[in-house]
Amino acid sequence: MQGLGHRPKTLPCKFFYDKRGSQLFDRICELEEYYPTRTEMSIMRRFSGEMATLLGKECLLVEYGSGSSLKTRILLDAMVQPAGYVPIDISEEHLKLSAQRLAQAYPHIEVLPVCADYTQSFALPRSQKQPRGRCVYFPGSTIGNFEKEEALGFLRRIAQVCGEDGSLLIGVDLKKDPAVLSRAYNDSAGVTAEFNLNILRHINSELDADFDLAKWEHVALYNQRRGRIEMYLESAVEQRAHIADCIVRFERGETIHTENSHKYTPEEFADLAAAAGFERLKIWMDEKKYFSVQYFQMRLAS
Ligand code: AVI
Repeated sequence: MQGLGHRPKTLPCKFFYDKRGSQLFDRICELEEYYPTRTEMSIMRRFSGEMATLLGKECLLVEYGSGSSLKTRILLDAMVQPAGYVPIDISEEHLKLSAQRLAQAYPHIEVLPVCADYTQSFALPRSQKQPRGRCVYFPGSTIGNFEKEEALGFLRRIAQVCGEDGSLLIGVDLKKDPAVLSRAYNDSAGVTAEFNLNILRHINSELDADFDLAKWEHVALYNQRRGRIEMYLESAVEQRAHIADCIVRFERGETIHTENSHKYTPEEFADLAAAAGFERLKIWMDEKKYFSVQYFQMRLAS
C-alpha cells in the first residue's frame, strides 16, 4: 500500500473491483445520471452496421475485458462471418462464465478466452479460421482511467497486438458541461459513493486493515485544467488505520485520491492515438456529443 505513504495519499483504482465493487459498478451503469453506458449502447445500436463494414469479413475480434456485455453482442451480431472472438480478462471466473455464455449464444463463432492482464504483454491464440484482419475492441471508456502517459504506452502495446493491418475500436468519453460530469459521479442514490468507499472495505478484507467506513466521505470533482473527474475519499475526522503491521494517520479533511476518469475532445484522442501509430478513420457520437466510439487503423509507414 505504497500510495498511502505518498503526499497526497493515493490508492490504486484496481482495488475497486472485488465482487461487491463489480456489482456496484454494474449498478452505476444503470443510473440515470451516469450517461456513458447507455450512450455508448445507443451508439453501438445505431452504427454497428457501419462498424462491421469497416471491420470487414472474417475479422478476429479481440476484446480487452470480457464481453458478457450487450455491447459486444451488438457488434458480433453485425459482423460478417467473424474468424473468432478473443475475450481477455484477468479474472478467470468472470472470463470463463462470459466466454461460455457467448459461445452458447454464438455457436458459429469460435470463442478463444485468454486469462491475462491486458495492460501487460500476452500471446494471442490462433483461431481455426484464418482471419483476414484483427480488431481490438476496448469499450466503456476504461482508457479514461489511465494517466495520459500510461494511455499512450497502452495504445502502443495494442498497436503491437493489432499488427500492421489491424484496427482498434474504442469507446471514449468526451469533454462536456462540467455539471453533467459532476452529476454522473455524484449520483443522488449514492451508488458511486458506495463504490468509492468499497475500496476501503476491500482493503480491510484483503490486507487485514481496519478502516472505519463511517468516517470517510465520497468526493468527486471535475478538474477542468486536467480534463478529468477526480475521485477522493475525505477523512471526516482525525483518525488512524492499521494496515497489516503499519499505522497510517489522517488529518480531518485529508483525502485519499482513488480514481481519475479522463475526458477527451475528439481531436485530443486522435492525437494521442496518432502518437501510438494509429490513424482515425471514423468517429461515431450521440446527438449531444457526450460519448464517442472511434475506429482506428495502423498508420502505414511512408
Ligand atoms: C470504468 N470506468 C470507465 C468508470 C469511469 O467512469 O471512469 C469507473 C467509474 N468510476 C466512478 N463511476 C464509474
